[in-house]
Amino acid sequence: MAVLEISDLVVARDPGTGARLDVHRAEVAARLRDAGDERAARIVERIPAVNGVLDPAAVDRLLVRVHTELQRLNEELHMARRFAEVLRPILAAARQAGVTPLRVVDIGCGLGFVLRSLAASGVLGEDVELVGVDFNPALIAEASRLARHERLRCRFFVADAFALPGHATVYLSNGVLHHFAADALPSFFRAQDRPGTQAFLHYDVAATPLAPLGAWVFHRARMREPLGRHDGVASARRAHGDRVLLDAAAHADGMDVFLFEPVRHANPFCAAMRPVVGLRPALVDGVRRALGRRARGLVTVPARAQR
Ligand SMILES: C[S@@+](CC[C@H](N)C(=O)[O-])C[C@H]1O[C@@H](n2cnc3c(N)ncnc32)[C@H](O)[C@@H]1O
Repeated sequence: MAVLEISDLVVARDPGTGARLDVHRAEVAARLRDAGDERAARIVERIPAVNGVLDPAAVDRLLVRVHTELQRLNEELHMARRFAEVLRPILAAARQAGVTPLRVVDIGCGLGFVLRSLAASGVLGEDVELVGVDFNPALIAEASRLARHERLRCRFFVADAFALPGHATVYLSNGVLHHFAADALPSFFRAQDRPGTQAFLHYDVAATPLAPLGAWVFHRARMREPLGRHDGVASARRAHGDRVLLDAAAHADGMDVFLFEPVRHANPFCAAMRPVVGLRPALVDGVRRALGRRARGLVTVPARAQR
């Protein structure tokens, strides 16, 4: 049976105009019950509604609260440091190859935690422009507000992952791949095989047998919002296996694709997130050199049991 996330069901937009559409609470609850998820249905039934239609302002506030809690998990998992570990070698190799300007675009950025952290530390260098996109305007508004408040050099726009505007030297994402069905992933990756794009780096939950239990413990301990706790576990249950991700990423056929795995045996709870990496062939040697010993973690065949 399909695993559904509540956050994917409580906001709907017209695909043509982007206008927000009414979401009927009873319909969402029925969909979740049909998928065998009584608990999720009850969470949705507690979201305020007017004449049976979910209150958009209440939904937005709820999603911002959930993403604020998600930011704390990202902090604990050191996600900004993990991105920097691979981004710095990629950008070093791109500079070496004379690529300019350098722009990093975070797809499905939510509140922009990763980009805001990279901007705050300045770890990627002054010459790198940082841009976040998400299809949810409420999250983009909050990301922009936070970046202004924190006086950070990064920008946020509303955009869909499958219709990305502008250009990027490197595309990244964090916790987004599992929101897309396996058969949509090839077009997600293909869309990033653009002239000028040198690499992509997409972290998501590693689809290990322990992932749902780990996600349950982690979200139970650290998150208060029932929606966030629910979706955190659902995301681990619906995470794509390594083979699915590598095969989909290969549809960006101008890129060489890898997983980036911990070099040593890692505590499975700490190895909860791992990335799919795409590199222009001309960049691979430079990135390996810049990664040093950690280049051994750049693999084309997953070490763990394949799913
Ligand atoms: C689990 S959240 C991760 C948010 C953020 N990357 C983080 O690490 O906190 C998934 C995000 O993907 C966004 N998203 C889902 N589908 C999308 C799409 N088709 N285009 C753009 N953003 C999308 C959601 O709005 C949400 O912010």
